[in-house]
Amino acid sequence: MSQEPILVTQGLTRRFGGLVAVNGVDFDVRPGEIHAILGPNGAGKSTLINLLSGEIPPSEGQVLFHGKPIQGKSVRQIARMGIGRSHQKTNIFPRLNCLQNCELAARIHMGGVFGSWRSRQRAREVGERALEVLETCHLVHRAYTPAADMSYGEQRQLQIAMVLATAPTLMLLDEPMAGMGREETVQVTELLESLTDRYTLVLIEHDMDSVFRLADRITVMVDGCVLESGPTEQIRASEKVRDVYLGRHHEEATA
Ligand SMILES: Nc1ncnc2c1ncn2[C@@H]1O[C@H](COP(=O)(O)OP(=O)(O)O)[C@@H](O)[C@H]1O
Ligand SMILES: [Mg+2]
Repeated sequence: MSQEPILVTQGLTRRFGGLVAVNGVDFDVRPGEIHAILGPNGAGKSTLINLLSGEIPPSEGQVLFHGKPIQGKSVRQIARMGIGRSHQKTNIFPRLNCLQNCELAARIHMGGVFGSWRSRQRAREVGERALEVLETCHLVHRAYTPAADMSYGEQRQLQIAMVLATAPTLMLLDEPMAGMGREETVQVTELLESLTDRYTLVLIEHDMDSVFRLADRITVMVDGCVLESGPTEQIRASEKVRDVYLGRHHEEATA
């Protein structure tokens, strides 16, 4: 995987008042990789994702996607460039069924209506796309089930389907396994694994087993800064990471 990165950040910084949530981060994503971001709570992981998706502007530095700065573009324009994201909290429409949720996501991506023939054609495309992503996410049998009636794990899977419906080339997933039981975590890990031949993924995740299984590279953040970034094996073996992150994690877990 020595190709040019598809996304690069240069000195990316975001302040909230006096707090530096993301501090001079140089980061890159290579085509086809799963790049995991690890770090304790408050490290700046979600803020980094919010900067990559254009949801918040940086205080300093920039994000280049395929060599072009995303600064000044709307979230929707950035989504159309090919960056799709999911949020840490579930944001599905509970009363709509799975198919409708995915159609909505696909429609937002495909844009407005152009006359009746085009709009019929478009509705068909939207429906096909929605069904396709439900298939990918193993939710076809739930197509007509209201999202509110599904298990938490299925709702998180639906969220991934909705990101896919926007036809991204780069997916940013913020803790897709958060709050899941063991079995559901394994299920979603397998789903993400099955996407790797078609998508590039930036993944924030606390579940170490999943991260070590999925990631090609890992960036570890602490206090807004990059502590270390490299191939999964390097991070796994890193004393620095073990001391600062895994150590603290372990203390929290056993406190
Ligand atoms: N919108 C915001 N306003 C003020 N502070 C924020 C905002 N978003 C995040 N922060 C702060 O920035 C730091 C990093 O938060 P976040 O990126 O959510 O961390 P992580 O996702 O790694 O847990 C935290 O101290 C958090 O309280
Ligand atoms: Mg977060």
